[in-house]
Amino acid sequence: MSDLVIKNSKLVLPEKIVDAGLVIEDGRIREITKDKNLPDAERVIDARGNYVLPGLIDAHVHFREPGASSKEDWFTGSSAAVAGGVTTILDMPNTQPPTTTIKHLNEKREIARSKAIVDYGFHFGATVDNSDELSRLGNDIASVKFYMSATTGSLKVDNDALIFEEFGILKDKKILATVHAENRDMVEYWFDRLKEKEGVDALDYANSRPNICAADALNRMVFLSKMIGNSVHFCHVSTREEIEILRNSRDNRVTAEATPHHLFLTKRDIKELGNYSKVNPPLRSRGDQLELWNAIHSGVIDIIATDHAPHLPGEKERDILIASAGMPGLETMLPLLLNEVNKGNLTLIELSRLTATNPARIFRIGNKGMIKEGYDADLVIIDLKKEDRVDNSRLFTKCGWSPFDGWKLKGWPIKTFVRGNLVFDEGSIERIRGKEITYSKNES
Ligand code: NCD
Ligand code: ZN
Repeated sequence: MSDLVIKNSKLVLPEKIVDAGLVIEDGRIREITKDKNLPDAERVIDARGNYVLPGLIDAHVHFREPGASSKEDWFTGSSAAVAGGVTTILDMPNTQPPTTTIKHLNEKREIARSKAIVDYGFHFGATVDNSDELSRLGNDIASVKFYMSATTGSLKVDNDALIFEEFGILKDKKILATVHAENRDMVEYWFDRLKEKEGVDALDYANSRPNICAADALNRMVFLSKMIGNSVHFCHVSTREEIEILRNSRDNRVTAEATPHHLFLTKRDIKELGNYSKVNPPLRSRGDQLELWNAIHSGVIDIIATDHAPHLPGEKERDILIASAGMPGLETMLPLLLNEVNKGNLTLIELSRLTATNPARIFRIGNKGMIKEGYDADLVIIDLKKEDRVDNSRLFTKCGWSPFDGWKLKGWPIKTFVRGNLVFDEGSIERIRGKEITYSKNES
């Protein structure tokens, strides 16, 4: 007998939406078939005519453990993930200690193994002196992350010659580079100017990292990676200038990501959010935001990822110069996007391409990212008609706040399955262990 059958559903497949059911065995999708052909199963779930999406793959999260588990830990972070329909996360290396040695990577693996309820993978961190570690990496990480300027934590590679050399190592090993592109000299210069001013607020902070910081850094890295021939993925693209550069240099070794906070918030929200709006790269203008949406539709932006960067209210409410940068996003990404689907600004097929199929392809995640026979049964049942408010008091993230608190949204995840296990069910979490993902062979 099959383990699980999901009936009465509308399945969002890569190219079309079909009325069909799913047969799940050993955590995989065994069969996609009409309801009348569904076999008996130990458990039958009636989707009540709702849509089923492939579980979201969030390629950019900060789970903070080891080192800062007061902000988030692998259980609270992964609970937030499944509550937001996310079934796989890729964790960033700016923890304490940072994930910049194979030893530290293995230590983080142990923590994730014992606490995660989503499937997970790891980004490794590049530093000014860990080329040896990079040379020893195997095919068991999602990417090597380069922070070009300082952000949360102490990771940064502030020397283009070193980036050039390290990109060379990654090219030989066919490992993807991910980049936080902001020009260090510019960011530091204008930050120093800010320190000389009186009464600096959150808008001044955002204005101290203008578009040129991101655009110049991205431009140089596109050029550098072209010279070397390695693959590079740009995190949190936020400006019209970056989009223009990406559009002109279109090359399948270069991919790009946008975050929900840049898609749904602008500088106009800074007044209300105050220091909670502080994030790197900062919130941008309405014009930038519109270009990001165009880039989503035209394919210049390949994926949406949260940059889920939880910090405690006390850390956000400090003087703006020392307040922590970053905001949580795991629980709100899918409802925000479904709300756009309801408004007619996005299709469910686009949504699943941006949040599941493309991240699986770019990060070479085997057997995930699509509703397809033989693939992992990572699924999210959504109720497109459900209306609810984002509510800080109901969040699973340990930081306990969202920049979208109070937003009324239509379209919410109601059930999330990781490899056939129902881990989120209408507000309640089931503690079933997640697994580390595997990667298909590097081809480029
Ligand atoms: C991130 C964090 O807090 O870890 N902060 C942020 O403002 N985005 C780091 C990062 O991704 O730059
Ligand atoms: Zn970043």
